[in-house]
Amino acid sequence: MVEHDYFAERIKQEKHMEYDVKDINLADKGRLRVEWAMREMPVLKSVAERFAREQPLKGLRVAACLHVTTETAALMMTLKAGGASVHLCASNPLSTQDDAAAYLVKYEGIPTFAIKGEDSDTYYRHIHQALDLKPQVTMDDGADLVFTAHSQRQELLEGILGGTEETTTGVIRLKAMAKDGVLRYPIIAVNDAHTKYLFDNRYGTGQSTIDGLLRATNRLMSGSIFVVSGYGWCGRGVAMRARGMGARVVITEVNPFRALEAVMDGYEVLPMSQAAKIGDIFCTVTGDIRIIREEHFVLMKDGAILCNAGHFNVELDLEALSRISTATRFIREAVQEFTLKNGRHLYVLGEGRLVNLAAAEGHPSCVMDMSFANQSLAVEFIMKNHANFDKKVYAVPSEIDARIARLKLAALGVEIDNLTSEQEKYLASYDLGT
Ligand code: ADE
Repeated sequence: MVEHDYFAERIKQEKHMEYDVKDINLADKGRLRVEWAMREMPVLKSVAERFAREQPLKGLRVAACLHVTTETAALMMTLKAGGASVHLCASNPLSTQDDAAAYLVKYEGIPTFAIKGEDSDTYYRHIHQALDLKPQVTMDDGADLVFTAHSQRQELLEGILGGTEETTTGVIRLKAMAKDGVLRYPIIAVNDAHTKYLFDNRYGTGQSTIDGLLRATNRLMSGSIFVVSGYGWCGRGVAMRARGMGARVVITEVNPFRALEAVMDGYEVLPMSQAAKIGDIFCTVTGDIRIIREEHFVLMKDGAILCNAGHFNVELDLEALSRISTATRFIREAVQEFTLKNGRHLYVLGEGRLVNLAAAEGHPSCVMDMSFANQSLAVEFIMKNHANFDKKVYAVPSEIDARIARLKLAALGVEIDNLTSEQEKYLASYDLGT
């Protein structure tokens, strides 16, 4: 028996641990990369240290559906340090870092079900395997875990105290479930914490999207026309960084306030029907469906690059693109060429999935530090307060959010001022005017 199989069998037999990762022999590489990530995660580290002392999650079963990265490994270790048992599966078929998954299994004993490039059946089988833990808390990124529990594993719902949601798309989906009265347990919207969306969504998506684009294409950004669809927190991060690389950035929007902000931030704002004709690179970041469609593809220049940094692979209408193409091939890793009937070529990155995770490593650890400190403290908050919740979507308490900001500032060595008592009184008063 080769060593690879020996390890796999030992882990399964001795720990009776189910898992499904690409190659357990990647664990040592994963170990070094997790160590590297943790250097940039001091806030999460301080939570893990307190959790290890106080055991606030003792006995809690947590099923997590997240991008399986080195940063997620650090989060899983934090939950385990707090006394929780955890099952982890991927929240996207292309985002898994196979070495981080192997590390979690081999060195942390955390049942992990995630393989980069898994097909749709495997993706959902892994979600079911995470749910086999009979979780009391779910941790989701995009709400596929919550939705699967609600639609196919209803026997589990009674035992679930609450859940957390990492991303804008998931929060929108869960709020829609709550509005329709079908959400069966409370959710904490981690995405909406200031220490999450202002940093992870903006600087994280901004940098890692450009990173994915460059790793996939090695194209020069300087002087290119870069079209960003959606001027939410993620979109403005991408636009800001594309401009920093010397691109001429065009924004497409449907929201008049955001469009106006984009104009006053100095970008050109155009409808897609016009942007399609001039763009060299297109990046969708809207969270909505079919942003770039057949009517746009046929207008595009030969060689245009298309990618998506929104949660689901629905923003580029790839069905339509296939329909109007005469040929397709992978020309580089993560770069698919489509030859259109009009003879032009378009290039789609990472199968239209999150380009920052499909073609790069996702957001840098420094911002995931705050996102995942929110996640771990939200789980503790659910554990302590679930009896007082309704079946609704709740914000992260502002004290937790502010504590994370202060810890991050301290870790960065940044000091700030405090209000004097006179200033505090002034802010609470209304009698002093001109
Ligand atoms: N989402 C975006 N980047 C991520 C990362 N590095 N780890 C986990 N989830 C992410």
